[in-house]
Amino acid sequence: MAIPALKFFSFVLLIVALTELNMASDTMSKTQFNNISDSENGTLVSNDGTFELGFFTPGSSRNRYLGIWYKKIPLRTYVWVANRENPIEGSSGVLTINSTGHLVLLGQNDSIVWSADYRTSPVKGAPTFELLDTGNLVLRDTDSHNYSENYYLWQSFDHPSDTLLPGMKLGWDLKTGVERRLSSWKSPDDPSVGDFTCGIELSRFQELVMRKGSEEYYRSGPWNGIRFSGAPELRRNPLFEFDFVSNESELYYTYHLTSKSVTSRIVMNQTNYQRERYIWNPTTRTWKVFASVPRDYCDNYDLCGAYGNCIIGDSPVCQCLKGFIRNSTEKVTDWSEGCARNKPLECERGDKGGFMKLSGLKLPDTKRSRVDGSLNLRECRAKCLNNCSCTAYANSDIRGKGTGCIMWFGELIDVRQFSDGGGQDMYIRLHSSELEKDDHKVKIVVTVLSLILVVFGALLVAHYIRRFMTRPSTSDNTQTGELISQNNEDQSPNLELPLFDLPTIATATNHFSISNKIGEGGYGPVYRGMLENGQEIAAKRLSRSSGQGLNEFKNEVALISKLQHRNLVKLLGCCIQGEEKLLIYEYMPNKSLDLFIFDQTRSKLLNWPKRFSIICGIARGLLYLHQDSRLRIIHRDLKASNVLLDAEMNPKISDFGLARTVMGDQSEGNTKRVVGTYGYMAPEYAIDGLFSTKSDVFSFGILMLEIITGKKNRGLYHLDRGLNLIDHAWKLWKEGRPLEVIDPCFHVSSNTSQQLRSIHVGLLCVQEHPEDRPSMSDAVVMLSNSSTLPQPKQPGFSMAKNNLGADSLSSKHEFTSNEITVTLLEAR
Ligand SMILES: *[C@@H]1O[C@H](CO)[C@@H](O)[C@H](O)[C@H]1NC(C)=O
Ligand SMILES: *[C@@H]1O[C@H](CO)[C@@H](O)[C@H](O)[C@H]1NC(C)=O
Ligand SMILES: *[C@@H]1O[C@H](CO)[C@@H](O)[C@H](O)[C@H]1NC(C)=O
Ligand SMILES: *[C@@H]1O[C@H](CO)[C@@H](O)[C@H](O)[C@H]1NC(C)=O
Ligand SMILES: *[C@@H]1O[C@H](CO)[C@@H](O)[C@H](O)[C@H]1NC(C)=O
Ligand SMILES: *[C@@H]1O[C@H](CO)[C@@H](O)[C@H](O)[C@H]1NC(C)=O
Ligand SMILES: *[C@@H]1O[C@H](CO)[C@@H](O)[C@H](O)[C@H]1NC(C)=O
Ligand SMILES: *[C@@H]1O[C@H](CO)[C@@H](O)[C@H](O)[C@H]1NC(C)=O
Ligand SMILES: *[C@@H]1O[C@H](CO)[C@@H](O)[C@H](O)[C@H]1NC(C)=O
Repeated sequence: MAIPALKFFSFVLLIVALTELNMASDTMSKTQFNNISDSENGTLVSNDGTFELGFFTPGSSRNRYLGIWYKKIPLRTYVWVANRENPIEGSSGVLTINSTGHLVLLGQNDSIVWSADYRTSPVKGAPTFELLDTGNLVLRDTDSHNYSENYYLWQSFDHPSDTLLPGMKLGWDLKTGVERRLSSWKSPDDPSVGDFTCGIELSRFQELVMRKGSEEYYRSGPWNGIRFSGAPELRRNPLFEFDFVSNESELYYTYHLTSKSVTSRIVMNQTNYQRERYIWNPTTRTWKVFASVPRDYCDNYDLCGAYGNCIIGDSPVCQCLKGFIRNSTEKVTDWSEGCARNKPLECERGDKGGFMKLSGLKLPDTKRSRVDGSLNLRECRAKCLNNCSCTAYANSDIRGKGTGCIMWFGELIDVRQFSDGGGQDMYIRLHSSELEKDDHKVKIVVTVLSLILVVFGALLVAHYIRRFMTRPSTSDNTQTGELISQNNEDQSPNLELPLFDLPTIATATNHFSISNKIGEGGYGPVYRGMLENGQEIAAKRLSRSSGQGLNEFKNEVALISKLQHRNLVKLLGCCIQGEEKLLIYEYMPNKSLDLFIFDQTRSKLLNWPKRFSIICGIARGLLYLHQDSRLRIIHRDLKASNVLLDAEMNPKISDFGLARTVMGDQSEGNTKRVVGTYGYMAPEYAIDGLFSTKSDVFSFGILMLEIITGKKNRGLYHLDRGLNLIDHAWKLWKEGRPLEVIDPCFHVSSNTSQQLRSIHVGLLCVQEHPEDRPSMSDAVVMLSNSSTLPQPKQPGFSMAKNNLGADSLSSKHEFTSNEITVTLLEAR
């Protein structure tokens, strides 16, 4: 009995010893792991294995840096760098605690490359460092068993690089004066401090400010108790919780993930000057951008000047606040001079004016503001009214019914307006007469409207009475009938296509003489001619060497004969004789659009109203092809040279030879044979041979931008020549200078809102993803009314993004001009 008891006892002892040993080694790894050496590939891993601290070489650099990254994420992503400004050459780096108890990074010859600067005076026991599961590298006194951050001698979370991890505080420790500010890497190869930063500035009231160098770049708007006033999309979500803390000792923004299985970070990205929130997608093993700012160009700091108001969707986006007018109308796109009061205040002379309520705003820059949290809105108003330099006030905290008072002194800048429920109320000071005027205006409008209604109603009644009386002998029906058939002649099913014989056409075109040749279309020369009855024609003679066979020819003839629309070139007939195949069209005296828009002298003949009507005409023609005709026709080669102009410069789309009918609802097809023109082809069509009405929309977008700008889109093969037209337009758009893309010939024009709108629609049409592009019917509506338009996304075939696709195509086929119509067999 004794022996087993002893055995059992020693077994228990063994377990205890093992456990103790285990514990000892556990503390070892935390406390005595005092050296991390690059030459020994040493790293320090957080307890749960999420983060790793070690040495690395970023991008194509050859330098070594000490940093922290996600251990479990295969795409190496650095969240913190110690020696940002002092890289180590070679693998001599060692992270250690030196003899005076400081955390130092030693480089060559044991020189100190970086050290953790902590204010607390050196401690009795030797400090140790530790990498927490949050990604925080902390330095603690060995004796201290306090794990609260108050007892850290130093922590990396107080010295962020470009990344804000969950639990980090962006802002100030007001007691110690430590500012935690994010700053981008200079480049993916160089983690040193770039010029793109984000933090909370004490000169302002509770807002995040991003700077590009020393310039303000983006402002979040003041924290209003629920969110930042300029970030209505920051709301409760299943992914993360956010908070803003403001008291005597602390002022910061922070967030926490709600689930441990989600990995997310915020990063300042100098590549595109965006602050981005990424989410790790474990299935695709990529970082996905969840949100980013600035979101649009109204987010650009102070875009619209003093008392300006940026409204995305309006054209121009810059407007003046109510009661203000622009004080410079010379500069169409530059609003830096801002707006001035319709009627200056006369406060000093005793007329204090009053306040007008504006809603849905991102509150103005708080640089010159004052906050009194104890006042309610009524008291706030009284206080503002009594100080002549107070220009506006609002609630500083909108929770509940709203409390607190924020007042602005001097000019109001960087205001924007949100359409869908975002933003908040502000009360702006105006001259008393402005407030009454507004009342007046409403009254007048209401009176006028009711008058119009009454008159209109009376007319309507009269009309019906007349109509009712004359009904038996009505001729109204035939009139409307005619109207329909004018637009939509494909109603008549047995439309007969005249067949011309060859001698007739030969005579008409002077035996196809060179002097009668007016162009060379995709499939052969086009001749001008005159029939015996005096009618002018254009005869397209299909070259025998062209790829078009009898089938395609018949297809084209059948198609075109069924399509009649004001904005389509009319086919008069055809001629088939032996090898000879001809199409006879009506003659267009002004030839094609490209001869005008790309020609320096002739482009002057097309002023903006003309150009706009041409754009609308093409849009209607294309819409007819896509929707209104009984057949659903995809053009597939829409371009400037395929748009002809009649004597009144009305546009007519030509060349349906490439159009392929897809019957009924089929609006998409897949083809191995890509036919089209570089520079106009949608990415999905050029690369994958996928065509749809949306690939026509893309070509239409390009064509539109060409008409607006007077420049050719250089297509996707000029990789070495920098930006193409879409890139250029997109860049200007994002920078808030969209109008600068316009043809200088008619830049000075009063119709800027129409121009802006056209650029906007153009950019929507050339978006990379077909599903994002509007349909032609959407496009027609967008062009014709003034509703709010969605923001365009990245265009297709932008150099910035699609280098891969562009490269693979351009390396296979060397094109030198986008005028060449190409037929690519098996584009894959
Ligand atoms: C590494 O740590 C040990 C003590 O653990 C120390 O003696 C040694 O000098 C350190 N090495 C370097 C390069 O700092
Ligand atoms: C460190 O890693 C490199 C590359 O993986 C390897 O060649 C080298 O032998 C390693 N050194 C040590 C001390 O493990
Ligand atoms: C330890 O590092 C600190 C911080 O860089 C430095 O001031 C101090 O001189 C170092 N001590 C020794 C003995 O090198
Ligand atoms: C390191 O020491 C060597 C020889 O003493 C010297 O040539 C070299 O310049 C030193 N390097 C640095 C970075 O101090
Ligand atoms: C740890 O925290 C407790 C309670 O806050 C405090 O009483 C104690 O002095 C702290 N210990 C050290 C070593 O700082
Ligand atoms: C400030 O707020 C933080 C977070 O809510 C809190 O932990 C801290 O105690 C507060 N400090 C003061 C002085 O109120
Ligand atoms: C910055 O954005 C680019 C693409 O826009 C991306 O490739 C890069 O990884 C981003 N940088 C960081 C630090 O996330
Ligand atoms: C525009 O108006 C503001 C007042 O809102 C004024 O301060 C500024 O001087 C004006 N600028 C010009 C160029 O008139
Ligand atoms: C009005 O407000 C400004 C800015 O806070 C202040 O400097 C000024 O003294 C105030 N004037 C009066 C009369 O209260």
